[in-house]
Amino acid sequence: PPVDPFDLVIFGGTGDLALRKLLPAMFHRFLDGQIPEHSRVVGVAREALDDDGYRASIRNALVEAGGAKDKIEQFLGQVHYRPLDARKDEGWDDFAEMIGTQPDHVRVFYLSTSPELFVDICQRLGHHGLNEGKSRVVLEKPIGRDLASANRINDAVGQYFNESQTFRIDHYLGKETVQNLLALRFGNALFEPLWNAEHIDHVQITVAETLGVGRRGAYYDRAGALRDMVQNHILQLLCMVAMEPPYSLAPDAVRDEKLKVLRSLKHIDESNAAQLTVRGQYRAGAAEGQSVPGYLEELDGDTKSGTETFVAIKAEIDNWRWAGVPFYLRTGKRLPARVSEIVVVFKSVPHSIFNADAGPLAHNRLVLRLQPDEGVKLWLTIKHPGPGGLRLRHVPLDMSFAEAFGVQQPDAYERLLLDVVRGNPTLFMRRDEVEAAWKWADPILEAWAASNEPPRPYTAGTWGPSAAVALIERDGRTWNEDT
Ligand code: BG6
Repeated sequence: PPVDPFDLVIFGGTGDLALRKLLPAMFHRFLDGQIPEHSRVVGVAREALDDDGYRASIRNALVEAGGAKDKIEQFLGQVHYRPLDARKDEGWDDFAEMIGTQPDHVRVFYLSTSPELFVDICQRLGHHGLNEGKSRVVLEKPIGRDLASANRINDAVGQYFNESQTFRIDHYLGKETVQNLLALRFGNALFEPLWNAEHIDHVQITVAETLGVGRRGAYYDRAGALRDMVQNHILQLLCMVAMEPPYSLAPDAVRDEKLKVLRSLKHIDESNAAQLTVRGQYRAGAAEGQSVPGYLEELDGDTKSGTETFVAIKAEIDNWRWAGVPFYLRTGKRLPARVSEIVVVFKSVPHSIFNADAGPLAHNRLVLRLQPDEGVKLWLTIKHPGPGGLRLRHVPLDMSFAEAFGVQQPDAYERLLLDVVRGNPTLFMRRDEVEAAWKWADPILEAWAASNEPPRPYTAGTWGPSAAVALIERDGRTWNEDT
């Protein structure tokens, strides 16, 4: 449904995320006729630009996002810019006047800046009355770098924006397949009865990237893979797989169930981190046929950084449904393929009626592919067709969204940005979820710091350190290889 006219203000408007994701996402919504005429997108950053200068600086990003020239110019007509420094008064009065404080006008303030600035920005928005009425604030992940700093940020933002105005974005929740998981789990009678420790052997969640850290080294080196990907994206995926059926799709119904999962995560600390976690850091190697530098070289020769660019974890959920079912999680930069998927591996049949020459039985596997080529695959055992006796074959029932529906899936940000405009927080993280996720992550980070062991090296273009393979093979299982 169409939305009312709104203003979207992007703090960090000249940054990487704005250019790569936020502006293209708004442009795509514009092309679909979803941005009402009197809406505005306002870039804010410290650079001294005017509207035209900003438009010129983002035009390329829109060309890359596709769309005819006249459409780009039309969209740019709704784009503005204001130079502002979160720590200086200059320009704020003018900005406040531009945005206005009409109570029923939707104002979205997207904080795509370093979290250190969140407090200053919110304070100034509050000071100018821009936090009233239908104002909303969007916080980019990671919220803080541990529980204590997340609390500080949430407290400070909370002085100016109440929880229902605060949208903590995790763009993985906007991905089509993640939402499809809800449809698959709760719209089919087939899966839910099997969705528990009795029938599921284990779950794997992989988010692999071929890119290195590139120009984001300054941010990334302070974060590392656990804070950048696991504490948020991967745990959110885990929640969607593991949560109990919510009573409806009402925002808090879903978020209550996710919270319970986060709180049931088995504690990993100094006593077991060495067995349950593997951290890695890439060395020079190859990516997509090109030779690429190692992580330390990309950091301009800082040869001491102990930041992990890969992590694998054997997680467990200590509750009735999932007792004893491992969730193997892994993510990394400079891996051989860009692939994100959730693999649910079912237990094998209790007894084989087949002869040895029929070949081995295999586990049924449900593979939910988030990217690329979103889709769902269900691996089944069938009889190899034709004569030659009963030989077993393992084949996928394979559904590619692109093939089945012939439409390109919208980017996660497209959906989430309009959800903010609509005021629908279902796919955003509530404060207590973020806190529960940090409560699980903090002791892992502390255990790593205490161990003083550097991350294990892996060659760019490989699936991480061999210890990550050992982590799952020790349990007699293997990472899904059909990627
Ligand atoms: C971001 C991380 O949240 O997600 C990046 O900060 C990562 O490091 C990105 O590259 C991956 O997102 P996507 O949608 O490309 O899988």
